[in-house]
Amino acid sequence: MLLELSDVYTKYGQIPMLQGVSMTIDAGDAACVLGSNGAGKTTLLKTIIGIVKPFQGSLSYRGENITPLPSHKIIQRGIAIVPEREGLFPGLSVDDNLRLGAYYEKDKYALAQRKEEVLAIFPRLRERISQQAGTLSGGERKMLGIARAILANPQLILMDEPSLGLAPALVNEVYGVIKKIKEEKKIALLIIEQNAQKALDVVDRGYIMQKGSIIGSGSRDELSENEIVKSSYLVS
Ligand SMILES: Nc1ncnc2c1ncn2[C@@H]1O[C@H](COP(=O)(O)OP(=O)(O)O)[C@@H](O)[C@H]1O
Ligand SMILES: [Mg+2]
Repeated sequence: MLLELSDVYTKYGQIPMLQGVSMTIDAGDAACVLGSNGAGKTTLLKTIIGIVKPFQGSLSYRGENITPLPSHKIIQRGIAIVPEREGLFPGLSVDDNLRLGAYYEKDKYALAQRKEEVLAIFPRLRERISQQAGTLSGGERKMLGIARAILANPQLILMDEPSLGLAPALVNEVYGVIKKIKEEKKIALLIIEQNAQKALDVVDRGYIMQKGSIIGSGSRDELSENEIVKSSYLVS
């Protein structure tokens, strides 16, 4: 098992947020967490990478208890995140932004090779390699955020609402790339979404989150047929 959350509780000040969240991600797995606005999805990702600390429960990554570790140590263990707003450096070039994704990589040869692989997946970024990240379109910025995460050579990538704020054609493009990563790379994916249709198109299974709790889980097919998913999250 890659990642395991066991009965995790968090709060913001006195306000409870995650309430007993348990989930597992296996190596090479692709899973989603579906939930509406304010359900606690971003909080869940922040908790996994140690920005938010649980007051109860624990997290383990490849068998190691990562609950007390600072964020940068958790990321060094092999978890990358694509935040909702890509978190890029707008004044730096596409190339420099990619380089920063691999900040901890010491093997320059492996890095160059990985960059080639990533640019093969994202030909649009290759064309714009010297362009300032801030001048990319919304879809291209999402691509750069994902490409940068891959360059860190993680075993697990967390993606916070990759479809958010994108026109439908771009959503399809971004999800096309996510599908490609899933098929070509041995990287596990945990995708947070309100757009259940898109997420269920690429993942194998998932969870439903409401008000800080996991209220359901199942395979892609089970979730597609789930009444809560059908009534609330099947945005088209
Ligand atoms: N730093 C924070 N301080 C206080 N409340 C927060 C903080 N971050 C998020 N919240 C609150 O926690 C709830 C869940 O937020 P979030 O995890 O961002 O939900 P989601 O990503 O599912 O939309 C929201 O009600 C939000 O206002
Ligand atoms: Mg969010």
